Amino acid sequence: MKPEGTVRPLFEEARIAVRVGELGKEIAAASNQNVLLIAILKGSFVFSADLIRALHSAGLSPQIDFLSLSSYGEATESFGRVDIVHDISDRIAGRPVILVDDILESGRTLSFAKTMLIDRGAESVSACVLLDKKNKRKVAIEADFVGFDCPDQFVVGYGLDYAHYFRELPFIGVMETA
Ligand code: IMP
Ligand code: MG
Repeated sequence: MKPEGTVRPLFEEARIAVRVGELGKEIAAASNQNVLLIAILKGSFVFSADLIRALHSAGLSPQIDFLSLSSYGEATESFGRVDIVHDISDRIAGRPVILVDDILESGRTLSFAKTMLIDRGAESVSACVLLDKKNKRKVAIEADFVGFDCPDQFVVGYGLDYAHYFRELPFIGVMETA
């Protein structure tokens, strides 16, 4: 059942679009043409779709693959364990890779993905996250490219969910119970 209540906007659609365009330029300036994006699903599917077009506008021709990980279930606190739900299909040995995720919180998801790709022989693994909850880290890891600092509140929209709802919202906001 869809949760009750409204979502108070925190990052509006237009503001996200501007920042994603800037991220495209930042990444293009730091990357080579052969870069492979690996979007961590499900949360980053909206962000990565916009980001790959921002990279095109910035002159890159990136490839993209998808890695589906789960760490949350239907709770708003991490279980502390990360599972592969669906693996990537591209060969990554010797390639520069950029992981794309919606939000960096404890760092467990990104750390798990980064270790896995390095173990498989990626030439380099950097990370781009749209949102960063800096104070919630449980693992020492930082992203190379960050869209926005995020307050320590549970946010939804633009791909981010609560209990698999709210991913369709064009903005990012905080759930408020009526
Ligand atoms: P971490 O492993 O704790 O860094 O959490 C990263 C993952 O948890 C993200 O990829 C999100 O899917 C999920 N997550 C963390 N915070 C939020 C939030 O505020 N809203 C929705 N999902 C979140
Ligand atoms: Mg996620």
